[in-house]
Amino acid sequence: MHKVSTASGIDEKGDAMDMLQATAFPNGGSLVLGNGYRATIRPITAASRPLIETAMTRLSPESSRRRFFTPRFRLSERELIHLTSPDGVRHFAVGVCGRNADGTLEGIAAARFVRTDDNSAVAEIALTVIDAFQGMGIGKTLLAHLIAAASLRGIDRLRALMTPDNTPVLRLIRRYAPSARFVYDGEILTADIPLSGLPLARAA
Ligand SMILES: CC(C)(COP(=O)(O)OP(=O)(O)OC[C@H]1O[C@@H](n2cnc3c(N)ncnc32)[C@H](O)[C@@H]1OP(=O)(O)O)[C@@H](O)C(=O)NCCC(=O)NCCS
Repeated sequence: MHKVSTASGIDEKGDAMDMLQATAFPNGGSLVLGNGYRATIRPITAASRPLIETAMTRLSPESSRRRFFTPRFRLSERELIHLTSPDGVRHFAVGVCGRNADGTLEGIAAARFVRTDDNSAVAEIALTVIDAFQGMGIGKTLLAHLIAAASLRGIDRLRALMTPDNTPVLRLIRRYAPSARFVYDGEILTADIPLSGLPLARAA
């Protein structure tokens, strides 16, 4: 499995919480994957729209179902406008992009949180890494970004909704946000992640 490496020389086998903290802002947003692929973490803006539209078509049905609860490969105009116009406070979003083999810019992952209401200290998160780039450490780097950004904005808790068979995100949260509490309503598993005990939240 390829992993993210950073300019700071993170030890892959290091303690999970130290890794989470150290990978929050690796090398000013630059990531080098284990296979040499160079990627950048950037804020999502209206200009990200074509990258998101193409990335949607590169999700497997399983990943798409896990992200949207039903397989989706196209987004409506309204969804695209919403997803590409975060205000940075109520709605925060970053994307990961790089260059494909012919040098064209490609979007490979995105992460966001949206407050549950305008004044809320609780925000719901969503993470997506396209299949070809899963298992390389991008998801945990993005979770670290969300935790740091949420803490800086006065958010106390992040919430993640997942299907109960979504082992990757379940393990990601259990490993890198061990204070998370899980509730299952018979259909959806909800993880509530208090930020106060996490290293990045303390640092913020
Ligand atoms: C969940 C998701 C974002 C993880 O991203 P990723 O880049 O593949 O994850 P990483 O490589 O950073 O792995 C982070 C941790 O997640 C867990 N994990 C990731 N893939 C896993 C898998 N296939 N099986 C079990 N655990 C897995 C591991 O604990 C891993 O930590 P480790 O490498 O220190 O052991 C990605 O699988 C995805 O986009 N899935 C489809 C959409 C989705 O389910 N979104 C979540 C809805 S909130």
